[in-house]
This record gives sequence, structure tokens and C-alpha cells, in this order.
Amino acid sequence: MKVLIIYNSVHRGNTEKIARAMADSIDADILSYSEVDGYNVLDYDLVGFGSGIYYGKPGKDFVEFIDSLPIVKNKKAFVFTTSGKGDSNYSEKLAAKVSENGFKIVGEFSCKAFDAWGPLKLVGGINKGRPNSDDLKSAHNFICQLVGEEG
Ligand SMILES: Cc1cc2nc3c(=O)[nH]c(=O)nc-3n(C[C@H](O)[C@H](O)[C@H](O)COP(=O)(O)O)c2cc1C
Repeated sequence: MKVLIIYNSVHRGNTEKIARAMADSIDADILSYSEVDGYNVLDYDLVGFGSGIYYGKPGKDFVEFIDSLPIVKNKKAFVFTTSGKGDSNYSEKLAAKVSENGFKIVGEFSCKAFDAWGPLKLVGGINKGRPNSDDLKSAHNFICQLVGEEG
């Protein structure tokens, strides 16, 4: 199964770490969203979309990128987010956005990650060191199971 993982990671590279752990686990292609030509997406059996969360949402530019992709039919996708809260609702929001383009969501992954945004900087940030090795292992298990099920 050909898998492409597309990420948006502008704050601390947290989402990129998760994306790389997933890509290394299954030998997937991995690109920052700014490197993707929308039509590349059509060449893959499964596409992953991952983003950090900024003001409760995936980045604005990333959302615009998703909107710019061609409408697909019967194409599988999974989503992942990293955030201070690690809330799975954030991944659900991203899944809803990706579904608007016709993708069928087959998996969602959420992870707590280092957050030194705004006032949190004053206390040195929260979730220091995350994603940590346990988080990367969870990302590995998630993608291996998903590809096993879908493959
Ligand atoms: C401007 C900004 C706004 C953020 N807003 C939220 C938020 O609303 N909820 C949350 O849980 N984390 C929030 N965070 C924390 C990030 O989601 C977290 O650090 C994430 O891992 C960043 O991913 P990245 O390093 O891949 O960009 C925010 C961070 C920044 C810089």
C-alpha cells in the first residue's frame, strides 16, 4: 500500500516528529504541506494529514491547502494532531475538514506535545520533552495497526 504523510508543524516541530515516526515505521513518503502538489495525492492508496493546533484549530494555511486539493472519491485518509491539551476533538475537527474533500477517514491519532505558547512561556511551557519515546511508540503502533487493517 502506497502511503503519503503530509504535515503542518510550525511551532516546535512536534507534529513533524510524529509524522516522521509514522513514516519510518511503514516506509511511507512524507512531505510538509507546502511541498505537496495536490495531484500527487491521487497517486497514493492512503494519505495522512497531521497538524499542530493553533487557537483551537489546525493552521489556517494548512486548512487552505486542504481546501485546494482535488475532490477525491473512495480515497482513504487518516489524521493526527499534536496540541497542549492532546484533545481528540482537535483530530475530529481535522477529520471533518479532510472529509469535505471526499476522503474516507480510517484513523485518528492525537498526542500531547510541548506547548510554550503565550503565557505558558512564563512557566517554561507544558508537556516538556513531548512527544517523548512513548508517544513515538504510540504513533508507530497506530500506523502499523492501521496499515495492517487497511492493507
Ligand atoms: C499560537 C499557538 C496557539 C496554540 N493554541 C493551542 C490551543 O488552542 N490548544 C492546545 O491544546 N494547544 C495549543 N497550542 C499548542 C500547540 O498545539 C502544540 O505546541 C503543538 O504541538 C504545536 O505543533 P508543532 O510544533 O508541530 O507546530 C498553541 C500553540 C501556539 C504556538
